[in-house]
Amino acid sequence: MIKTVFASGRLGEFGLGDGLPWDGHKYQSEDFKAFKEFTKGCIVVMGSKTFQSLPFKLPIRRNIVLGSKEVYAKNGDAPDQTFNLKALTENLPHVTYERWLRSISDWYKSDVVVIGGAELVVKTLAFCDEAMYTRYHQSYKADVYLPLLPKYIGSLVGYERFGEGKDFMDISYYKR
Ligand SMILES: NC(=O)c1ccc[n+]([C@@H]2O[C@H](COP(=O)([O-])OP(=O)(O)OC[C@H]3O[C@@H](n4cnc5c(N)ncnc54)[C@H](OP(=O)(O)O)[C@@H]3O)[C@@H](O)[C@H]2O)c1
Repeated sequence: MIKTVFASGRLGEFGLGDGLPWDGHKYQSEDFKAFKEFTKGCIVVMGSKTFQSLPFKLPIRRNIVLGSKEVYAKNGDAPDQTFNLKALTENLPHVTYERWLRSISDWYKSDVVVIGGAELVVKTLAFCDEAMYTRYHQSYKADVYLPLLPKYIGSLVGYERFGEGKDFMDISYYKR
């Protein structure tokens, strides 16, 4: 199974430097808990800038990074695997992003979850089997935005809201 997990602000804000636009939000720990649960036992796939923004390699899960060079998490951890998928798909046109993700899932007999960055999440939403989307309902300063706001992901199968008034955060779960 292929999954994706991501969060945004009200206007699609996605990243800020090597952190998140809403860092320090009072309900962020609930988001972290849900992220941990959603990715438990999965292989995590991410772009190189996302890996560099992590404090450390995500524990217990195989961390696969897409990119052309070796990168490290903030504490110096290296990923388990780095894959230059752009070079591979240029040379072998039948190898698509989706086929590659499904082959990783088959090879390791494990679900794969794409955890960022913005373009990879949007590409994954086109075919993934499950998604978790956290929305922080304020506007934030950001330097990375989702290329488009996700409208249709699949069927909504779960929903939780944290907070009230204007400054709330909600987590939605989808299945195709
Ligand atoms: N809101 C969220 O849910 C969330 C989640 C994760 C991260 N973030 C934040 O988002 C920012 C980082 O995300 P980003 O979108 O800027 O970057 P990113 O996708 O994490 O990293 C971009 C790099 O990944 C590599 N890459 C991406 N797609 C590829 C592909 N199809 N094949 C091969 N390599 C590929 C490329 O590296 P090369 O140039 O080496 O080829 C590209 O320069 C940070 O601010 C981070 O804190 C937010």
